[in-house]
Amino acid sequence: MSARQARRPVSVRVNGDDVEALVEPRTLLVDFLREKAQLTGTHTGCHQGWCGACTVLMDGTTARSCLTLAVQADGAEVTTVEGLEDPDGTLSPLQQAFIEHFGFQCGFCTPGFVVLGTEILAEAEAGATFTRAELQRRLAANICRCTGYRGILDALEATLSEVVR
Ligand code: FES
Ligand code: FES
Repeated sequence: MSARQARRPVSVRVNGDDVEALVEPRTLLVDFLREKAQLTGTHTGCHQGWCGACTVLMDGTTARSCLTLAVQADGAEVTTVEGLEDPDGTLSPLQQAFIEHFGFQCGFCTPGFVVLGTEILAEAEAGATFTRAELQRRLAANICRCTGYRGILDALEATLSEVVR
């Protein structure tokens, strides 16, 4: 059977829009997002689950899109970094805080960290509380090669203080 015959229809709701495509079963979600949805904000660094650059929200929970097959996301709601800002382009409070607290240098890791931080903010809105050390542990899921961790942590902590105040 040829690769073309093996393709399967996949429909993913991405940032509020349905994205439908025929994909090979081995197609990664990150490639589906970048190539089929034309959303290139989700990056790939390691392709092995280590760096977190490819982090997206899948049905509200962070997922490594380099370890998730597009067919696994069929029918799911996926939010990428592009989906975090308002339709008019206004940045989310966390995105704005990254700017104000110098939470990035080259910016390669930033989409993954912002998505991870968005998950943490949602947990805080639901009543969870976090110490700075706990936030550090959560952020350790992702890697920044520019070692901009302090700014990332400061940005998240500042946004959290707005959420829980
Ligand atoms: S590219 Fe997915 S974790 Fe590194
Ligand atoms: S800002 Fe460069 S990898 Fe994090």
